Amino acid sequence: MIVCVCRRVSDRDIARHAKAGLGFDEIQLELGVATQCGGCEGFARDVVAQCHGTCPTAHIRRQNATNPPREPSPAP
Ligand code: FES
Repeated sequence: MIVCVCRRVSDRDIARHAKAGLGFDEIQLELGVATQCGGCEGFARDVVAQCHGTCPTAHIRRQNATNPPREPSPAP
């Protein structure tokens, strides 16, 4: 999905850079996201935060990931 219409930057582009360890400012310089009208900045920052695990949703997922795995169902 296109996040930044002005620079045609998608959420996948942002996520790929964030998962590579770049912060929002670095991604902004690299991709040009949120450098024209600025209307996309909030959503672009949310995408970066989700990839860095700094938002509440990511925190909940991380807590659930520590639960032990379920036993596999017996074969029919
Ligand atoms: S929509 Fe991203 S700068 Fe305009």
